[in-house]
Amino acid sequence: MSEFSDKTVLITGGTRGIGRACAAAFAREGARVAICGRTAATAQAAAEEIAAETGGKVVGFETDIASSPAVDALVKSVTETLGPIYVLVNNAGITRDGLLMRMKPEDWSAVIDTNLTGAFNCCRAVSRDMLKQKTGRIINISSIIGIRGQGGQTNYAAAKAGLIGFSKALAQELASRNITVNVVAPGYIDTDMTAVLSEELRAGLLERIPMRRQGTGEDIAAAVKFLAGADASYITGAVLQVDGGLAM
Ligand SMILES: NC(=O)c1ccc[n+]([C@@H]2O[C@H](COP(=O)([O-])OP(=O)(O)OC[C@H]3O[C@@H](n4cnc5c(N)ncnc54)[C@H](OP(=O)(O)O)[C@@H]3O)[C@@H](O)[C@H]2O)c1
Repeated sequence: MSEFSDKTVLITGGTRGIGRACAAAFAREGARVAICGRTAATAQAAAEEIAAETGGKVVGFETDIASSPAVDALVKSVTETLGPIYVLVNNAGITRDGLLMRMKPEDWSAVIDTNLTGAFNCCRAVSRDMLKQKTGRIINISSIIGIRGQGGQTNYAAAKAGLIGFSKALAQELASRNITVNVVAPGYIDTDMTAVLSEELRAGLLERIPMRRQGTGEDIAAAVKFLAGADASYITGAVLQVDGGLAM
């Protein structure tokens, strides 16, 4: 028996990358895991793969987290299918990089709507049940870009910095009910999101990482699992950088 046995964990995204690694980590611990993505077939196929890989229970849902009604419907379906949500991991995120002068308003909005408003939608939708249960864990995946900024990513940096402020405010609202809200800020992680960077940029980033390697989804999943677990029960409003020292 693990501390996550029979607990319900909702991870937004989860069809690939960091979210997928988180889903696998919780499924291995016996949790009932829900993942979501923008297309039903992808989400269901990923859930089946993770379940086969881990021997755990994983269900995939189609949801665009930028839509508040869609998120409300997701939380209702997850609760009905797997039971009340104990852990929420706000992981789904996108980039639409470009210099500010050339950034289209829709690229600004898409990133804010998914990376920041998406987390707001999900936290709001799960918080009522968590308050009733007087327990819960919320882990928001920000980025070191939200701490130190990055030219070409004003939209992404604003969303990720916003997520840190949002998490600290929400942590204060929920702390007395034994619900913790924490942030994991990954550095440079090997996923589809970073695979599109130029060779030159990737080489430059690697040179700046004191540990001289790119992080993995599993590196981030380990931090998320720690913050969701009993060993972190007195930690709330914290930002845990998992970046091989990149943002020091
Ligand atoms: N990779 C890094 O170096 C790095 C560093 C710092 C922070 N992060 C953050 O970590 C998180 C995961 O990143 P990643 O690298 O794993 O990215 P990724 O490989 O591109 O995966 C993104 C995930 O988000 C889902 N998603 C995107 N928009 C969505 C929406 N509107 N509704 C529902 N799901 C949506 C995608 O699902 P579908 O495509 O199936 O819809 C996919 O599962 C993001 O928040 C990212 O900003 C990543």
